[in-house]
Amino acid sequence: MDEIERIAEMLKNSKHAVVFTGAGISVESGIPPFRGKGGLWEKYDPEEVASIYGFKRNPKAFWQFAKELLIKTKAEPNKAHYAIAELERLGIVKAVITQNIDMLHQKAGSRRALELHGSMEYVDCLDCKTTYKWEDVEEILKKEIPRCKECGSYYLKPRVVFFGEPLPRDVLGEAMNEAKMCDLFIVVGSSLVVYPAAHLPFIAKENGAKLVIVNYDPTESDPIFDVVIHGKAGEIMPKIVERLNEKLK
Ligand code: APR
Ligand code: ZN
Repeated sequence: MDEIERIAEMLKNSKHAVVFTGAGISVESGIPPFRGKGGLWEKYDPEEVASIYGFKRNPKAFWQFAKELLIKTKAEPNKAHYAIAELERLGIVKAVITQNIDMLHQKAGSRRALELHGSMEYVDCLDCKTTYKWEDVEEILKKEIPRCKECGSYYLKPRVVFFGEPLPRDVLGEAMNEAKMCDLFIVVGSSLVVYPAAHLPFIAKENGAKLVIVNYDPTESDPIFDVVIHGKAGEIMPKIVERLNEKLK
């Protein structure tokens, strides 16, 4: 039986499936990954552009990085995001746990997206505590590095988890619960090297779930998975949903 067929069969028989995504699912939307081919960490120093220490030293470095990640790409959801939203609509996938901050799962129609690393949705001024919506900051970022309209500060910090910061406890707790309750855990587009997010597949496995990974490159954790497909999420995920829909007829 081919892998697509096996995964569709597992989805059909699952009572509580969960999808876990990383930067790889947004690559076909034009957003570069952090690691692997074209990885951002070959070009940028994560300590400088994505750690809380770097941000406090120089917030402009983060905003330059954010411009490349979120403005130049004009990213829209791709077929993989839509496939996952359809699995939720079918009542099979109960939640998508994502490490991504690009909000593309919600844009594709996923209603329950657990954002482990936060998102750009809200941006707070660390000096005067004014809060901005991403849409407002996005407009400014298209032209220049954003400053607080109230006090002029450059310390405008989005509610994303920087290296050196804890993950949002409530979201992490909910994600751990999903990993414990699910009977099928599908990883899409993650190198599974950043903890505690990368613990989740192991927790699911310890609780008896079947594990599937759809990822372009092999990962160190591949051996713990029941089904492994190396390829592009935007091609593979729609094929899985198409095969599943044939089974559900
Ligand atoms: N389809 C499927 N997988 C892909 C595709 C694609 N089109 N393109 C790339 N990939 C895979 C790569 O093979 C790689 O293993 O996606 C994975 C992306 O891995 P990372 O860039 O490490 O992304 P991620 O796992 O989400 O990183 C976790 O690290 O830097 C931090 O906070 C950042 O949330 C991020 C965390
Ligand atoms: Zn301010």
